[in-house]
Amino acid sequence: MDLKIEPLRLTDLDEVMRIERLSFPNPWTRGMFENELKNPVSFAFAARAGGERQGPGGIIAYSIFWIVQGEAHILNLAVDPEWRRKGVALTFLQSILDFMRPRTVFEVFLEVRMSNIAAIRLYKGLGFREAYVRKKYYGDEDAIVMKLEM
Ligand SMILES: CC(C)(COP(=O)(O)OP(=O)(O)OC[C@H]1O[C@@H](n2cnc3c(N)ncnc32)[C@H](O)[C@@H]1OP(=O)(O)O)[C@@H](O)C(=O)NCCC(=O)NCCS
Repeated sequence: MDLKIEPLRLTDLDEVMRIERLSFPNPWTRGMFENELKNPVSFAFAARAGGERQGPGGIIAYSIFWIVQGEAHILNLAVDPEWRRKGVALTFLQSILDFMRPRTVFEVFLEVRMSNIAAIRLYKGLGFREAYVRKKYYGDEDAIVMKLEM
């Protein structure tokens, strides 16, 4: 999957909010994204289709993560429903892990809903392991905390 990956900008947030609302039962608000774009420990990237599939150039995936003292935490990741099951998340996450490596990240954490089989399979495919459970993390559901040792 050929992707064009760039830092997320404020002007991208209309597109991001559309995908966010289609992707999560409790979507982030626009204000939450705006805060992350101002947060010095936060990194935000958007992916567009590259190569021959470039098309009109809209965002097809985005991710937000923090890097703090050798530890990364992936806060958000979503792929446009029309672009799922094509390897977008796998390629995008591999690029994000490549971005983290020279920044001396040695552990990556994330939370995932226990019922989110698609995401759990994706993360396990990249080498993440289930670390522990956070009870009622989402209010209505437990989170599995997953961890990757780099
Ligand atoms: C989870 C999500 C990011 C996966 O994105 P994607 O681009 O469709 O994933 P990929 O095509 O790169 O799939 C990579 C692997 O993940 C797993 N996977 C992805 N979608 C899956 C599904 N619907 N069912 C089962 N496994 C799935 C598979 O192992 C897949 O490999 P395969 O296609 O060779 O079987 C996407 O479904 C999404 O945006 N979901 C809503 C938001 C979300 O749950 N984000 C994660 C929060 S922690």
